[in-house]
Amino acid sequence: MIEAGLEGINVAATELSEVDGAQGTLCVRGVPVAELARRAHLEDAIALLWDGALPGPDLDGSGATAGQERSQRLGAARVRAWPLVQRAHEALSAVDGMVALRGGLSLLDGADDEEIVASVAVLVAAWGRRRRGLEPLEPDPALDHAADLHRMITGIREPAGARALGRYLCTVAEHGMNASTFTARVVASTGSDPVSAVVAALGALKGPLHGGAPGPVLDMLEAVGTPEQAVPWIEAELAAGRRIMGMGHRVYRVRDPRAAVLEEVVTQLEAAGIAGDRLALARAVEAAAGSVLARHKPGRTLAANVEFYTAVLLDAVGMDRALFTPLFACGRVVGWLAHVAEQRASGRMIRPKALYVGPRPPAA
Ligand code: COA
Repeated sequence: MIEAGLEGINVAATELSEVDGAQGTLCVRGVPVAELARRAHLEDAIALLWDGALPGPDLDGSGATAGQERSQRLGAARVRAWPLVQRAHEALSAVDGMVALRGGLSLLDGADDEEIVASVAVLVAAWGRRRRGLEPLEPDPALDHAADLHRMITGIREPAGARALGRYLCTVAEHGMNASTFTARVVASTGSDPVSAVVAALGALKGPLHGGAPGPVLDMLEAVGTPEQAVPWIEAELAAGRRIMGMGHRVYRVRDPRAAVLEEVVTQLEAAGIAGDRLALARAVEAAAGSVLARHKPGRTLAANVEFYTAVLLDAVGMDRALFTPLFACGRVVGWLAHVAEQRASGRMIRPKALYVGPRPPAA
């Protein structure tokens, strides 16, 4: 028997995160995703996923904390990663940010996990600048990772935007056995190195069914234009045989819990007058898509997934849509590396079987 897409099959035991598709919950080492997202520092997600616990006081608190030490180490790693921007000059001229990132990162040889996280951020920011005809900006090791990533892309220090980006990165840092994480684990299981595992995972994340959806979500919001147009627009898309991006999920049978976390961040940004005014339209399109899809696929709840409000949030903090999937990688690389370590510790190469259904040699 074959389970298409390995649906419902456990392929590893993990202590990293628990995804409950029926209840619509995600906990990272027992910490609800909303609580992790409130930390807003990727350093805290790293501490939780790699070291096993959140650092005590928040990075914004006083005194030297484990989080601040991590932040300093990660800042130093970004500085060490900076020469990669020169070495990856050709790769960074790629039109697609994921192609640029994949090419640039594959030049790394022998990097530790912090250097891999740092390199992803530095390369993504450099590509984001170059595609706009701007010079890449050197890292500032004094800033926390999300704030520096925000600054290296936008060229400005904007604490509210940086914090919103940090909340996004924490929200997407880890999510069970998704396609890119599985890819990373397969590569790690052969004894290969973490850089190779991450480069392979980038390839999986790039696909529109996985990490490539938020750009098209923004295209959809722009094409819909007004709340009144939402239902007819979605009906026309489905009639043309196209999927509605940002809706549906392989595991969740209710709304993706990360959608609520990101929607709340955008709500706060709009209340503070930082974001534009896309939220009302986004909510109207989500509601319309939910009801049209319910008629289209009765018995199957197709609700908003993480990508839906990712598009609205990243747009609100000034990120170009071409950066959406590369920014996803900036957060998810933390989860990939945690899974790589866990897989290596388990020591078993992943090697399933295929059911042969092709021709056989004629009987003698
Ligand atoms: N728009 C239209 N139809 C959809 C849909 C969507 N967004 N999501 C699922 N469906 C349809 C499927 O085509 C399938 O129809 P079928 O039985 O006629 O083949 C049915 O609903 C059930 O699909 P399901 O098994 O729940 O989903 P999946 O595991 O095949 O796919 C996704 C999951 C995420 C790939 C899918 O929902 C999708 O393509 N969403 C849009 C892309 C996206 O937002 N990706 C980001 C994921 S975080």
